[in-house]
Amino acid sequence: MFSEISEATIPPLVDAFYARVRVHPRLGPVFDAAIAGDGWPAHLAKMYAFWSSVMLTSGRYKGNPVAVHAAVSGLTPDLFPDWLALFEATAQALFVPALAARFVTKARNIAESLRLALFFRPDRPWPGDLRRAG
Ligand code: HEM
Repeated sequence: MFSEISEATIPPLVDAFYARVRVHPRLGPVFDAAIAGDGWPAHLAKMYAFWSSVMLTSGRYKGNPVAVHAAVSGLTPDLFPDWLALFEATAQALFVPALAARFVTKARNIAESLRLALFFRPDRPWPGDLRRAG
């Protein structure tokens, strides 16, 4: 169980998370279609840099996640709870509770930003939104 977030402990979390993603019945096919077999090492390296930037403010990740996700075929808003549940379970399996919670808080906030950027349309009622157009 890791008790620090560092360049040494982020890769095991990323590796374990995407190992679970790849065998998940709904997430696995979306990732497999987007990332060709030999694309996984590059994706994992990018995700080490991403989480390093988020948790350690290292600035190692350069990219545009909204644009990248907009091009992912089969990405639907209902997949976010599955993604987050898997990420949360993986973080809790590898990190002491206080540090797992820090990862989970960041992941939830980023997931919500992504979900809004990708799927929110001001001209359409948001599912579960009590407001109605007009
Ligand atoms: C429904 C949930 C999600 C799905 C299905 C999904 C799927 C994917 C896929 C397939 C890629 C690879 C795209 C490609 O290389 O062509 C990708 C990249 C990425 N994802 Fe997600 N994702 C999800 C949520 C998230 C969340 C919540 C985060 C952050 C907390 C995240 C962070 C990233 C980043 C940083 C990349 C790399 C972007 C780049 O190439 O610069 N994703 N995602």
